[in-house]
Amino acid sequence: MSVLVTGGAGYIGSHVARILSQSGTEVQVVDNYSTGLDSRVLGLSSTNLELSEPIAIAALEQIMTTHKVTAVIHLAALKQVGESVKKPEEYFLKNLGGQANLLTAMKNTGVKKLVFSSSAASYGVPDVDLVSETQSPEPINPYGQTKLIGEWMAKNAEVAWGLSQVSLRYFNVAGAGWPDLADTQKLNLIPIVFAAIKEGTTPKVFGDDYPTNDGSCVRDYVHVMDLAKAHVAALDYLDNDSRKHDVFNVGTGTGSSVLEVIQQIKKTTGIDFKFEIAPRRAGDPPKLIADVSRINQVMNWKADNGLVEIVESAWQALENS
Ligand SMILES: NC(=O)c1ccc[n+]([C@@H]2O[C@H](COP(=O)([O-])OP(=O)(O)OC[C@H]3O[C@@H](n4cnc5c(N)ncnc54)[C@H](O)[C@@H]3O)[C@@H](O)[C@H]2O)c1
Repeated sequence: MSVLVTGGAGYIGSHVARILSQSGTEVQVVDNYSTGLDSRVLGLSSTNLELSEPIAIAALEQIMTTHKVTAVIHLAALKQVGESVKKPEEYFLKNLGGQANLLTAMKNTGVKKLVFSSSAASYGVPDVDLVSETQSPEPINPYGQTKLIGEWMAKNAEVAWGLSQVSLRYFNVAGAGWPDLADTQKLNLIPIVFAAIKEGTTPKVFGDDYPTNDGSCVRDYVHVMDLAKAHVAALDYLDNDSRKHDVFNVGTGTGSSVLEVIQQIKKTTGIDFKFEIAPRRAGDPPKLIADVSRINQVMNWKADNGLVEIVESAWQALENS
């Protein structure tokens, strides 16, 4: 098997690329290095390519043909919700234009398996305790919309020319599978709090009056290594002719509140830092927890790690970076 990993120099993509490579799969990484790091893909075959440029089609076709690529894992995307609200055109152009080029190259070269990185942002603000894949998706920002439309693009290719595809809707990804693969962007709670600790600033908790146990927002944190393994399970699933589903939540099925995560960070680091309660942010659902029964039953995948392993591995990787 030879797998092309777009966004393979990114935080999640580098875990996926390494886990595949270490199991003997030939891996081709494609990345524009906008947020990716070449230190994450040392020893792997990689190409610097902006997927949304028209020339990307021919470049991808060449990689697919030369390396006899049999499947693609498509992670490359812009992913900042706030930025997507300010620059929607850029998000549609890069995320969806890039995916259109990728699908064109796959169609032209006969590569018929795709695992697409989708997101819980596709759901928007669902008012349920556990979000299942049957929940109607109603993304509330351009980033989430690009993820939902990306799923539709993959489905349409299935109808039009026989692509076999699955979309994995990741919940809150954190932790590190190897100490050199830290999440270096400060966009999610754990890296934001770690950065505040390092910089001696005070992290903010947005809202302590939500209808949750302690008033702070609750999210489903999934270890990046467990998530990487879900991609391997998804590739196996694509070999199965009786596939019934093409959208899968990837989470743990349990939630942790912002205050619980902060407590765990204090415990892991041994640092008793202060935090500030700030007003709620618009568009933050009180709770977002995955119903993971579909991926458990259909792909036999389940997360092995919990919040303790997530925070410990993330801290160790940060200390190493
Ligand atoms: N991190 C999370 O919690 C999370 C949650 C849900 C979904 N996702 C999705 O997972 C994927 C990977 O996220 P990540 O956290 O590893 O982010 P990341 O920014 O670390 O990785 C994205 C990678 O894609 C590359 N890239 C971006 N746009 C590109 C383009 N147009 N052409 C070529 N390369 C491009 C970047 O350089 C980077 O290496 C994204 O699709 C993201 O939307 C992430």
